[in-house]
Amino acid sequence: MYKSLTRAVLRHPSHVVTSFQIRTSNMKLIVAGSTGFVGTELIRQALSNPSITSIVALARRLTTEPQTVGPGADLAKLKSVICEDFGNYPESVKQELAGADACIWYTNVLLLCIF
Ligand SMILES: NC(=O)c1ccc[n+]([C@@H]2O[C@H](COP(=O)([O-])OP(=O)(O)OC[C@H]3O[C@@H](n4cnc5c(N)ncnc54)[C@H](OP(=O)(O)O)[C@@H]3O)[C@@H](O)[C@H]2O)c1
Repeated sequence: MYKSLTRAVLRHPSHVVTSFQIRTSNMKLIVAGSTGFVGTELIRQALSNPSITSIVALARRLTTEPQTVGPGADLAKLKSVICEDFGNYPESVKQELAGADACIWYTNVLLLCIF
């Protein structure tokens, strides 16, 4: 799942996701680049999506809650995970990412090998 999504993102690096629909329920979503402009909006939308039950916000620094949230937003779903160097993923970070159903990668850098 990670690899196919990542490949899709890398094939269309200029495509900005402004809204998305997810049909799977109980989804754990990773948002990489969660402190950025696009990542923040993805998180804002995911917080209101009942199909997404867990959001891992992966970034080099703490990801704060969006300033505005939509109706039904559940802030308890959001967990900030810090990885100071995206070229090196400590075991503790890998554990936070484990079991995810999807990863949306919106950093300014390409995905290096995590898994
Ligand atoms: N915004 C747009 O309209 C738009 C349009 C087309 C394409 N894009 C593409 O979408 C992506 C995200 O855009 P954005 O506007 O959200 O950018 P942004 O606001 O600058 O956010 C970039 C994100 O990437 C992280 N990042 C940057 N360098 C990193 C590194 N070396 N290691 C790990 N994380 C790093 C930043 O983390 P820090 O907070 O730690 O710096 C931040 O979370 C970019 O690739 C951009 O080219 C954006």
